[in-house]
Amino acid sequence: MASVDIKSLYSEYVKSLETYIMFRIKQEMLRLTPELKAKKRAPINLSMGAPVQAPPDVVLNSLKECVTQPGINLYSVPKGEAFFVEAVAQRMKKRFGVDVDPKTEVFSLIGSKEGLANTFRAFINPTTVEKEKDIILIPDPGYASYVDQIKVAGGMPYSIPLTAENNYMPNLNEVITQLEKDGYSAKKVKAIVINYPNNPLGATATRNYLKHVVDFAKKMGILLVSDAAYADMYFGNEEAPASILEIEGAKDIAIELHSFSKPYSMTGWRLGWVCGNKDAVGIIGKLKSTMDTGLFKALQRAAADVLVSEEGDKYIVECNKMYQKKQEIAIKGFKELGWNMDSMKVPGATFYLWLPIPPSYKNSSEFAQKILETSGIVIVPGVAFGKYGEGFFRISLVDSDERIQECIDRMKEDGFYYNK
Ligand SMILES: Cc1ncc(COP(=O)(O)O)c(C=O)c1O
Repeated sequence: MASVDIKSLYSEYVKSLETYIMFRIKQEMLRLTPELKAKKRAPINLSMGAPVQAPPDVVLNSLKECVTQPGINLYSVPKGEAFFVEAVAQRMKKRFGVDVDPKTEVFSLIGSKEGLANTFRAFINPTTVEKEKDIILIPDPGYASYVDQIKVAGGMPYSIPLTAENNYMPNLNEVITQLEKDGYSAKKVKAIVINYPNNPLGATATRNYLKHVVDFAKKMGILLVSDAAYADMYFGNEEAPASILEIEGAKDIAIELHSFSKPYSMTGWRLGWVCGNKDAVGIIGKLKSTMDTGLFKALQRAAADVLVSEEGDKYIVECNKMYQKKQEIAIKGFKELGWNMDSMKVPGATFYLWLPIPPSYKNSSEFAQKILETSGIVIVPGVAFGKYGEGFFRISLVDSDERIQECIDRMKEDGFYYNK
């Protein structure tokens, strides 16, 4: 019998899909590990945005307590248990002053990554015909998953350029002008994604700008998706980042995705929620319900408890102080290595640092590969976040102070100065 070419059976949407950049970086790190260890350069991974400390005690104790309760092992509901969505509503009110109806305007997520993917699938009419594709406007540089998720859903991502020149808050009408110049129809735009505080830039948005985004989405008649994964990660003089839902009338067109991953160091727990416009939340929920059957009830209990606890709030404040200290160590180090840190706007949010590559490298991938091979330092090339990310790299400041300092020391020893 002739052998079957399984690859020829792949869907058109996944044929061009590449392995997710963070997994590719990890594979390369693992491949080089023996060699790096042998030269006393065991990898230090500054690529993943995953806090390493334990989550707050309240969440751990709550999980331990309820994991043995009778019935806790049974299916939950995709939307989330009443106590979970009610805790979300309380949190949105306390943190942002925003009212959301737990019955109709909140839905649980298996992390915001899953929520984003299902949002795109719910709004894009899939096609493989280039000119017929629904367009989703996405921040560039931006979270690497947006592009793949939109493509796999049969749509087309279109970049909103975030540059130092536009203070990372570009005029969106100009983006549409450019889109039309590039030969696309504005009528194909279905949604806009914003992400403040931004991964990888750490940039935040003013309330005025958020109003511009809401006005723009209303004028265009499109969905506004606010990815608020880093809403609680801010420090120094930074004002608490706003929710898009604080802007008057936003609920007519906007949803917001929140995550437990970063503020509570719960990346592996896979927990989040979407809230806002009830039609959008409803349809995402309906679609999601064909794929998953909700979160483990014990996780929901623990998550609900941390959301409304004082301890959870204090934990966030303490972690943010810690990230600020790590940022100070990194900034001092990069200054010593010749980076012109004084000319840069240092972010007061997230735990990322976004820096230009030394001018002697031809692109960010070359620099990332070289510093990994030579010094065992794992960074993310800026191009992984979009074409406007080329020429830069991102480091995550979640590892210990000592290991961040060790990266700086290795760079000095191995000659990774800005002007070399
Ligand atoms: C901007 C942004 N959005 C969403 C996510 C996904 O987070 P999670 O699925 O853990 O909630 C990440 C993770 O790094 C992110 O950086």
